[in-house]
Amino acid sequence: MRVSAATLVALGAIAALVALGVTDQVLPAADPRTADIRPWVAARALGVTAYLLLAAQVATGLVLSHPRNTAAWRQTKPVLPWHELLSVFTGAFLVLHIALLALDPFANVGVLGALVPGLSGYRPPAIAVGTVAMYALLFTAVTAKWTRLLPSGWWLKAHRLAAGTFLLAWVHSVLAGTDGGALSPLYLATGLPIMAGVAHRWWTAKVRPQRAAPSAVSPSTPSIGRPLPAGAVLEES
Ligand code: HEM
Repeated sequence: MRVSAATLVALGAIAALVALGVTDQVLPAADPRTADIRPWVAARALGVTAYLLLAAQVATGLVLSHPRNTAAWRQTKPVLPWHELLSVFTGAFLVLHIALLALDPFANVGVLGALVPGLSGYRPPAIAVGTVAMYALLFTAVTAKWTRLLPSGWWLKAHRLAAGTFLLAWVHSVLAGTDGGALSPLYLATGLPIMAGVAHRWWTAKVRPQRAAPSAVSPSTPSIGRPLPAGAVLEES
């Protein structure tokens, strides 16, 4: 997918709004404490937004990869652009979430604590899970965009790890957030249906009769060693 000019403008506008929001440019802080915690409050809101975008991304991925999508639903054409666009916005909100928390002294995470699991000053195990989720997400996104980085046919297997990545992000969100308790209805309402969807997807793939291997190479059969475009492979899975 090419990131369009409109997407870049939208991402730039979000970053500019965050910069204005966490500094004194628009609304000067009423007291020093408010000024201190503003970046942290913004970082947490960005984290929740990134989590919700990730949930939507995994949900659209489940629709795309469902065995019935090829035969009955035929939703690849409308859903695939959303799935791809959601990955761009999830990434952008995550970058802002992580950068603000890494640079903000109040958050007590630090740059090393954000990048190396276990080195955060604040809730090291919970932040470590978030860092691992971030690397796993990066791996999933890069191997989906440049499928040739992996041996033929491997990118889709790697892509299925996204379900585990979502689980890590979920655990991080519940354990790291100061508002984990207040937000638990949100985490349950999003996490449970997605995990049920993943389980259902695995189950339907397991009970589905295997297709017979094609006996001869037809003109529509992709040549060995050459990965199919992402959308095509998803319909085949
Ligand atoms: C897939 C990756 C990630 C997602 C989806 C995510 C999302 C979230 C969410 C939803 C929260 C809860 C906000 C709240 O209730 O206050 C949170 C908290 C937090 N995240 Fe992440 N995060 C991710 C990765 C990271 C990474 C790599 C770091 C390292 C800097 C990090 C640092 C934090 C911190 C410090 C908090 C706690 C903020 C507080 O004090 O309440 N997150 N994250």
